[in-house]
Amino acid sequence: MDRTGLLAGKRAFITGGAQGIGLAVARAFRDEGAEVILADVDAGALAALRTNPADASFETLALDVTDAEATEAAARRLSGPRGIDVVVVNAGILLLGPAIQTPLDGWRRVIDVNLTGAFISAAAFGRRMVERGRGGRIIFTSSLFGLRGGRDNGAYAASKFGVIGLMQCLAAELAPSGILVNAVCPGQIDTRMVRDLFERRAASQGTTAAALREGFETRIPLGRLGPIEDVAGAYVYLASDLSRYVVGQSLSVDGGWQIG
Ligand code: NAI
Repeated sequence: MDRTGLLAGKRAFITGGAQGIGLAVARAFRDEGAEVILADVDAGALAALRTNPADASFETLALDVTDAEATEAAARRLSGPRGIDVVVVNAGILLLGPAIQTPLDGWRRVIDVNLTGAFISAAAFGRRMVERGRGGRIIFTSSLFGLRGGRDNGAYAASKFGVIGLMQCLAAELAPSGILVNAVCPGQIDTRMVRDLFERRAASQGTTAAALREGFETRIPLGRLGPIEDVAGAYVYLASDLSRYVVGQSLSVDGGWQIG
């Protein structure tokens, strides 16, 4: 472990960490000296990680973030004498489709995982941070759709706007305890979630996933989807001492999408 890194000596807990953005954040934290615990509902993906020597050092935990009891138990177990310094509330799912066509069970599922799950994790670990009295960081993964609505994202945008509201309230409540709460709002990042989106939209629009991807990329001033590694630095910043006066912010990492 690199004891000279920006996060040397820190212990981090990341939900939705088995792949995509969560895993990239875990690797970046590890490279900056942190000890990382990854939680994910996908036990198979967690097991696959353990077969990769580079990722074998992560402690992993099969956890569904909508399970309040299991999350409480995890927070209790991990918040012993060493405690958790940084929580990345990242687990999420996507549901596409026109808002008025959204099936109620789909709506409920997205709100349950993306918003209620985020609340459960942040509250369970936030309470322990307050009790411990040594401050900490809570970093939510929201989305550009947490800042602005758009077509075909009714449930997802509602959940991600909710995350921003929750983040701002927790930021105000926990700052006096030295717990800094912020959010990252990724743009179009090259993960399974976005690749699935292209596949599904291509099928319904009679085009190809590659053509859709190209169309998206021409709308991004940087001209490409974000590699997961390019998002992770924002989380390192928000977890580190470099951001010690940053509270309640929504940091867009979108290759310029909003201004393009
Ligand atoms: P991903 O699908 O690669 O990773 C999401 C992870 O969350 C998966 O490992 C999945 O198993 C886990 N997960 C899902 N439901 C869970 C539950 N109930 N309990 C525990 N874990 C659960 O997707 P990606 O892209 O890495 O997404 C990570 C976060 O970033 C999500 O919150 C997503 O909404 C957000 N995001 C992603 C963007 C993108 O362009 N990929 C853009 C903006 C936000």
